[in-house]
Amino acid sequence: MDKQQLIFDGFEKQIYSTEDPDVVILHFKDDITAYNNIRRARLSGKGELNCAISALLFEYLRKKGVSTHFIARQGTNDLVCRKVQSIPIVLVVHNYVAGSLASKLALPEGFKPATVIYDLRYNNTELGDPLINDSQAVALGIASFDDLAAMYAYARSINTMLVSLFAAAGLKFVDIKLQFGKTSDGELIVSDEISPDTCRIWDAETGEKHDKDRFRHDMGWIVDSYAEVLHKLQSIKE
Ligand code: TYD
Repeated sequence: MDKQQLIFDGFEKQIYSTEDPDVVILHFKDDITAYNNIRRARLSGKGELNCAISALLFEYLRKKGVSTHFIARQGTNDLVCRKVQSIPIVLVVHNYVAGSLASKLALPEGFKPATVIYDLRYNNTELGDPLINDSQAVALGIASFDDLAAMYAYARSINTMLVSLFAAAGLKFVDIKLQFGKTSDGELIVSDEISPDTCRIWDAETGEKHDKDRFRHDMGWIVDSYAEVLHKLQSIKE
């Protein structure tokens, strides 16, 4: 499928229209950003790895009956996806405490909370993607209570599936960011990517980080550690 018009040019991804109005192409760039795009770099091979990891995970979720925008991988850096109207909400699922949640709750990184924590954020760069609650999301008109219930249900089942998939690969699935959109016929499905840029992934034994925290904290070996995630996921014996 050919790319037609560039319809979104993000820091890390681009979206192109195709000849089918219900299908887009997501192009993964090598650029990496953090802290609301303040810190930026270009890492050769990063786009291809995130594209491959996302494709592998979306394929796995599809086999388990989860509806996502993923149709197929095309070439090295592109995913052919169903076109959605994005819901400007980010749903973050924390299995372990890490990052800003650790400072906010004064808990050590790696602390396992008594229950999985779900954080809802309003995806609005100008406002710094603030934490919001369900009624604020509905009051803003960005989602209905039914949409939110569907998003939490997706998040709960996807998280359960990926915790066990990553465990089989010797990796601890610390947290994940999910985004959603609606297709032209109104179906709410999972969109965006699932990769070491949007999840925290630690080695189950050593605790070594295999995600964007390596970039956030200048730890080096970023592309190599993403490659190890892909390799470990590919090595799982079903
Ligand atoms: P979160 O705890 O919300 O933020 P922080 O990076 O400040 O600790 O992040 C949890 C996970 O979700 C982490 O793996 C990064 C990812 N994430 C994104 O990829 N994009 C986002 O906009 C947000 C809020 C989180």
